[in-house]
Order: sequence, then structure tokens, then C-alpha cells
Amino acid sequence: MWLSNVFSDNSILEKFNYYLEDNILIINADCREVLYLINNNSVDCCITDPPYNIGDSKKYTKYKGNFKTNDNAWGDLYQDFWENQDDYWDWLLNITLELKNKVKYHYVYFLDRTYIGHFNYLIRNHFEIKNLLVFIKTNPIPHFRKNNFRSSFELSVWFSNNYREINFTSQDYMKNIFEGTIGNKKFEHPNYKYDWMIKPFVLTLLKDNDIVIDIFSGSGSILYHIFKYNHTIRCIGIEKNKEIYESSIKNIKSVLSQKILF
Ligand SMILES: C[S@@+](CC[C@H](N)C(=O)[O-])C[C@H]1O[C@@H](n2cnc3c(N)ncnc32)[C@H](O)[C@@H]1O
Repeated sequence: MWLSNVFSDNSILEKFNYYLEDNILIINADCREVLYLINNNSVDCCITDPPYNIGDSKKYTKYKGNFKTNDNAWGDLYQDFWENQDDYWDWLLNITLELKNKVKYHYVYFLDRTYIGHFNYLIRNHFEIKNLLVFIKTNPIPHFRKNNFRSSFELSVWFSNNYREINFTSQDYMKNIFEGTIGNKKFEHPNYKYDWMIKPFVLTLLKDNDIVIDIFSGSGSILYHIFKYNHTIRCIGIEKNKEIYESSIKNIKSVLSQKILF
């Protein structure tokens, strides 16, 4: 069983709520509680979307068909607000350095575009920063107050721990810009990742039978898209918020039960 490579004793999981089916494990926990239980170098890659520290009243999101401020839409539903930005960076850096002992090769973090360079600066002596990837939303949300440009892209940083060959097949696919539409989310979460944002990594960085972790798995969209494009990949998700964790299980179960994922 693939999990015995990851945890020295699978009964460790019994202290958490978790869901395990075939190649997907989702744990309801603070990722810091789980990371230290994972065997060193037992996970191949990490693709994740950390909290951005933007759960405030200044940014808007579309929630159940209406535009609301992030805090009105999501309130305390998920932890996304640190009073002090430096505390947030310490928190994220410490988790990332712990992860370095566990994850052998590639890492992809989706991060707030304003500060992504700051994160790269913090990790520069610990990892090889490979590239920034741009995800262009071809139908961005309208900006009703008309006092700024419409938010039309997301950014992620790809960094690595140890060398591993990349599956690049054509020059065209090697551009670090990807385009797609937003709006038709399969699962409800403000930070849902669309399949065109995850597919490039499945095709290039991941390999058959890899073990991949998303330490902030939310609705499960990253795990779902990885699994959709490669059924042999084993996915571990960790989500702290019980309500979101439970909805992610419902989401994953519903797509697994459909059998036809495409
Ligand atoms: C930006 S969202 C990720 C959303 C995800 N990409 C999706 O598609 O739904 C970050 C998630 O991390 C969770 N979270 C925050 N702190 C956490 C922690 N210490 N350990 C695990 N999950 C955490 C939040 O509850 C939230 O659901």
C-alpha cells in the first residue's frame, strides 16, 4: 500500500478525521500537525494554494451569485487573516522548510501576486526557484467601481528541492503562460483552482505513480484535477477547517462515483 511509504505506521492517521479511497487521502488537520509525521523524502511533489492573508474587507469575491467582500463572503470559515504580515511570512516559511525534508522534487505554490516576489526572496537560499507561471483569466470578473483594472491573472511559483527531469514535449507548451475561463467551478471555494491551472503541472512535473501533497487542500480541486489527468498519481490533501474538509470529501466522492472523470 503506497501509504506505508509515507507514514511509518498508518495507525498514526487514527488521531485525525481522514478519508481514504484508492489513491486519494484527505486529512482534516492543521498541516503542521501532519507534516512531522511524514517520512523524510517520501513525497515526490507538492502543489498547493496557501492562505494569502487577504480574508479582509477590501477584496471582493463572487459568492452564491453575488459580489461580496472576502470577509462578508467567508468570514471565519477558513483561516486567512493575520494581523501582522510578518507573522504570516514566518508561518509560511516555517511550513515550507519543514516540507523540504519530506518532498523530494517539485513544488508549486499559488500565491498572492502582490507578494509572490517576497516569498521567493525568503526561500532563495533553501530551494532552486525555477519560474513564475501566469494564469490568464479570459473572462475576468467585472470591476463595477471602475477604479482599477480587472483582476485577470493568477500567479504561481515553481521551485525545486532536488533535480528531476521534466516532461517537456513541445516548445509551445513550454511557455510560462496559460489561459482559460473562470466561473464554472465544480466545487464551491473562493480559491478553487480550474483544471487549466493544474493540468500543465500534471503533464510536465509529475510522473506516473508519484505521491503528491496539497497541504492546504480546501475544496479538493487541485487533488481532483491531478487525479483526473493521471489516475496513477497518489494524492494527499490536508485541510484544517472541518466544514471545508467535509465538503471536499463530498466533492471527491461525487466525482469518483461518476467513474467518467472527463
Ligand atoms: C487558499 S485556500 C485553498 C483552496 C483550494 N485551492 C481549493 O481549490 O479549494 C487555503 C485553504 O487552507 C486551509 N488552511 C489554512 N490554514 C491551514 C493549515 N494550517 N493547515 C491546513 N489547512 C489550512 C484553509 O481552510 C483553506 O481552505
